[in-house]
Amino acid sequence: MKGVKRMKASQESQKKVTQLAGQPIKAFQLGRSAREWQHGYGTPSDGADTNQQHQPTWQLTPTAKQLIIYFSRSGSTELVASQLAAATQADVLELVVKRPYSGNYLETLRRANTERETEDYPELALRVPDLAQYTTIYLGYPIWAMTLSHPMTEFLTTYGRQLTGKLIAPFMTEGGYGQGDSVERIQAILRGQGARNNRYTRPLVIDGNRADQGTQQVATWANHVEAMA
Ligand SMILES: Cc1cc2nc3c(=O)[nH]c(=O)nc-3n(C[C@H](O)[C@H](O)[C@H](O)COP(=O)(O)O)c2cc1C
Repeated sequence: MKGVKRMKASQESQKKVTQLAGQPIKAFQLGRSAREWQHGYGTPSDGADTNQQHQPTWQLTPTAKQLIIYFSRSGSTELVASQLAAATQADVLELVVKRPYSGNYLETLRRANTERETEDYPELALRVPDLAQYTTIYLGYPIWAMTLSHPMTEFLTTYGRQLTGKLIAPFMTEGGYGQGDSVERIQAILRGQGARNNRYTRPLVIDGNRADQGTQQVATWANHVEAMA
């Protein structure tokens, strides 16, 4: 039975997914060569997390056991979240902040550095539902300064206790320097918030400029997560 489900997940995710909950995804860094892309340095966004034409993606059902919670500034992590949603049929909750990060990379970098130094993380603009129905939580984020990006830090710091007992599956996009200490940060924040009995899958790490090429990798990882659930 599990084998059949896995096969389906893999076939589903072979389709090119450029929408999430019926909304188009714009990812600014896709297709850029390594030289142009400079590990994500300079990547613009449209100044709205993630697209001005978007409603935040909150796709919640009463029966799903898996939930994808993600933040994305310039679209790549959102694209991976869409591939994952197609492969797993999980519910989706996008993190948005009250004051979105600038479309300008350097302004974003300055703000992110200040927030990190002062540990003053951005206020979220969403109502988080009761998470009791979910057994697996996927956490998706871009890497900032070799660690979690701040909206995810804020989410975990505020709602971490609700993740008690859940299987945590971290996924991220980054500029080519890897996962940094982001997984350790998730573990430390959850412990600090009093969440207990969490298990962790291995993380999924994808280069932001190749987020559209990761469908097979996403499907393989989703199967790994499912096998641990
Ligand atoms: C403020 C900021 C800091 C970043 N720091 C890093 C870093 O330390 N290491 C890295 O590999 N990429 C870094 N990046 C690049 C992003 O992780 C990468 O472009 C990611 O794919 C963006 O995801 P998104 O499109 O979902 O926002 C940084 C990007 C920003 C905006």
